[in-house]
Amino acid sequence: MERPDGHTHFGYRDVPLGDKQALVNDVFHSVARRYDLMNDLMSGGLHRVWKDVMITALNPPRDNAPFALLDVAGGTGDISFRAAKAAGPNFQATVCDINTDMLAVGRERAQAQHLDDRVRFIEGNAEALPFGDGEFDAYTIAFGIRNVPRIPLALKDAYRVLRPGSRFLCLEFSSVTMPGLDKLYDMFSFNVIPRIGQAVTGDAESYRYLVESIRRFPKPDAFAGMIRDAGFSRVKYDIMSGGIVALHSGWRL
Ligand SMILES: C[S@@+](CC[C@H](N)C(=O)[O-])C[C@H]1O[C@@H](n2cnc3c(N)ncnc32)[C@H](O)[C@@H]1O
Repeated sequence: MERPDGHTHFGYRDVPLGDKQALVNDVFHSVARRYDLMNDLMSGGLHRVWKDVMITALNPPRDNAPFALLDVAGGTGDISFRAAKAAGPNFQATVCDINTDMLAVGRERAQAQHLDDRVRFIEGNAEALPFGDGEFDAYTIAFGIRNVPRIPLALKDAYRVLRPGSRFLCLEFSSVTMPGLDKLYDMFSFNVIPRIGQAVTGDAESYRYLVESIRRFPKPDAFAGMIRDAGFSRVKYDIMSGGIVALHSGWRL
């Protein structure tokens, strides 16, 4: 998060705010080709359950109603594919991500699943989205917001691109508070995940950053306050898996 001295955190490191995005981009350039496999290995497949909960909350129309989803930091397209499969024929998803390698993997996956007519991939920064005001019926961001250097800017731009009466949904790692689970989770995160990262992607450092960035992300109440500050109403969150993940939501009214 931005601080008065112009620095922010990159995992446990202190870096100039202006340097963070390039460091984040290096992480996802490095892991893009193995990103989806790593998600399954690191979470034991649980990320699929968390993403399904997000799609249930999104509740895209099953009938012929048109619906435009913007999936920011959408990476290789997981959320948009799930939404497209759950939705009716006039659903359109736009995956917007800053990283061309993640988008390239996403486009290939869309073609392989015959979803390329319903899911498009566009390069863009969550802090300054390349879309007009009120263009979308819903905004999703899954495991993306903690990587964005200026989160308040991203939340403000989320509000701008949503039409009045539409939904903001953010799935993100949160804070484990369940006694017993917290120690196990720390041990797994700091010892096992970087090793899996090394074995599968040849890059332990990127996975060390991912683990550390989770610890630096605001607690759920504080993040809910930031969503409110961006203008959203009826802001709430639901904790999943003992606090490993939270689904935050709000409405643009
Ligand atoms: C952990 S991945 C999440 C991908 C996908 N949403 C999922 O759940 O599998 C985080 C993504 O955030 C993207 N990202 C990081 N900073 C961004 C920014 N400022 N604007 C847009 N995307 C960004 C990265 O390129 C990466 O694809």
